[in-house]
Amino acid sequence: MDKSKRKAVIAGNWKMNKTAAETSVLIEELLPLASGANCDVVICPPMVNLGAAAQQTLGSNVAVGSQNIHFEQSGAYTGEVSADMLLDLGVKYAIVGHSERRQYFAETDETVNLRAKAAVAAGLTAIICVGESLEQREQGVTEELVRLQTKVALGGFTAADMQKVIIAYEPVWAIGTGRTATADQAEEVCAAIRKVLAELYGQQVADGVTIQYGGSMNAANAAELLSKPNVDGGLIGGASLKPADFAAIINAASV
Ligand code: 13P
Repeated sequence: MDKSKRKAVIAGNWKMNKTAAETSVLIEELLPLASGANCDVVICPPMVNLGAAAQQTLGSNVAVGSQNIHFEQSGAYTGEVSADMLLDLGVKYAIVGHSERRQYFAETDETVNLRAKAAVAAGLTAIICVGESLEQREQGVTEELVRLQTKVALGGFTAADMQKVIIAYEPVWAIGTGRTATADQAEEVCAAIRKVLAELYGQQVADGVTIQYGGSMNAANAAELLSKPNVDGGLIGGASLKPADFAAIINAASV
């Protein structure tokens, strides 16, 4: 498997953490640590801090992403933010379908598809999250479920659209639990995702898509996870709030 066909992308999902002032401090600490990265680096602070984060990272190698995006361009959708609004701030990526959004905010495979389509249509890169719960893993349906989540999320996407898509495999049982998937478990599912992409778009397109692992990835386990042929990057929660740890993960992806 030739990993040079696709980009290594390390993205930090800050979730609902950091005020405006704290965001600025964290970015200031991170920028020098990330400047030598030989991978793409993305930070996803809370919505209210995206504009300031995009300004602060301007001219650096760190890009800014949102943690969610709405599928309509404008209108009566209280609390939501459109692709155009994000673009206007200088945002380049949008996380879509994170398991916390699925679990707490009634996100479905269908709304994930709509949100991902809106992101890509606007020129943003969609980081589409898929992954199984512990119960589903124990039932032995992980691969079937992740295949289905991936397929439905990509409904209506062309091969050209896939240049703006990243798939993040995030087993729900590994998120925020300190319980990481083993490198072999991560590889197995990431490989299954690439197989679905190949079925949908052909091997060449599939080989060009970045597939991330997320779920308790940290400074100590990143190198092993990222050494796997189908694990092209990481979507990092807790460790992305610690500049030295996030930098160590960036370094592990930069080899
Ligand atoms: P943790 O790295 O805190 O487990 O979170 C992973 C995640 O959900 C990233 O989107």
